[in-house]
Amino acid sequence: MSEGAIILLLGASGAGGRYLLDRTAGQRVRVIAVSRREPARAFPHVTWLQHDLERGPADVRAGTLVSFGPLAHALSQVEQGTGLGRVIALSSASTMFKKQSSDRAERRQMDALARCEQALADACRERDIIMTLLKPTMIYGGGDDANVSRLKGLVSRLAYVPVAGRGLRAPVHADDLARLAVECVISGPKSAGTWLLAGGETLTYPDMLSRVAASEGRNIRLLRLPASIMKAGIRAAHLTGRLKDITPAMIERQAMDLVVDDTPAREQLGWNPRPFRP
Ligand SMILES: NC(=O)c1ccc[n+]([C@@H]2O[C@H](COP(=O)([O-])OP(=O)(O)OC[C@H]3O[C@@H](n4cnc5c(N)ncnc54)[C@H](OP(=O)(O)O)[C@@H]3O)[C@@H](O)[C@H]2O)c1
Repeated sequence: MSEGAIILLLGASGAGGRYLLDRTAGQRVRVIAVSRREPARAFPHVTWLQHDLERGPADVRAGTLVSFGPLAHALSQVEQGTGLGRVIALSSASTMFKKQSSDRAERRQMDALARCEQALADACRERDIIMTLLKPTMIYGGGDDANVSRLKGLVSRLAYVPVAGRGLRAPVHADDLARLAVECVISGPKSAGTWLLAGGETLTYPDMLSRVAASEGRNIRLLRLPASIMKAGIRAAHLTGRLKDITPAMIERQAMDLVVDDTPAREQLGWNPRPFRP
């Protein structure tokens, strides 16, 4: 990275942001890290700016924006125009999987995300900003992700875990995304574009559950149930205020393959993610 470069990092307190702070240490850059919560560690190369981006973009001049938080914040930051020449932003491959979801709220959310991706691409093009958009499948790592952490909670409570399908998963470690973001900053225009990213290992949903349980020292039994029965159980649990973080649409997805072909990223960006080690 060029000497004295300034990176504006959004989403600094999340897993990807924390790994990026680690990976930029000693790289001759300054990072201005934005989040509402304080990042877990202090670094000499990092200035933390506590700011709620819902109130407006950060008032910072920086050549490079790395966004590991909500994509809408990256868009506002670009639209504000603060000398940016480079944007590396995290979005999601879910726009491909959830656009047909049976859950209307999810469909709306994915529609909004897809529109935000397009608006970001347009805003960057109008301002001659080189944009790299990273679209990973499910992200894990860092201890506080909503995916593997939720599964860890599930397998630690239940001896028999119900499953409704054998859909494929390719979880992406947050640190692999941080490493790729740093490599994209270094490689510049060569990394421009939109990139689908899968993890280093593809496994079925039940195998992923068993792997998560083993990482917790648990030996679970999987109980194959029809999705209709599981969805009825979830709806009943919701009536009594339980399992609110699990939705019928999530049950349906257990049978779906949520994987992408990331050959272009492997061949052109050198994307080389680790196997799934929860
Ligand atoms: N979760 C997944 O499996 C997954 C998969 C693929 C892609 N993605 C993508 O990854 C991105 C981040 O997702 P996430 O679920 O990790 O996001 P998140 O939990 O909403 O936010 C992650 C980071 O953004 C910061 N942030 C959120 N709201 C903020 C605000 N109002 N002001 C300042 N900072 C704010 C958070 O910091 P504070 O809370 O400290 O402010 C945190 O550091 C999204 O673009 C998402 O589409 C996620």
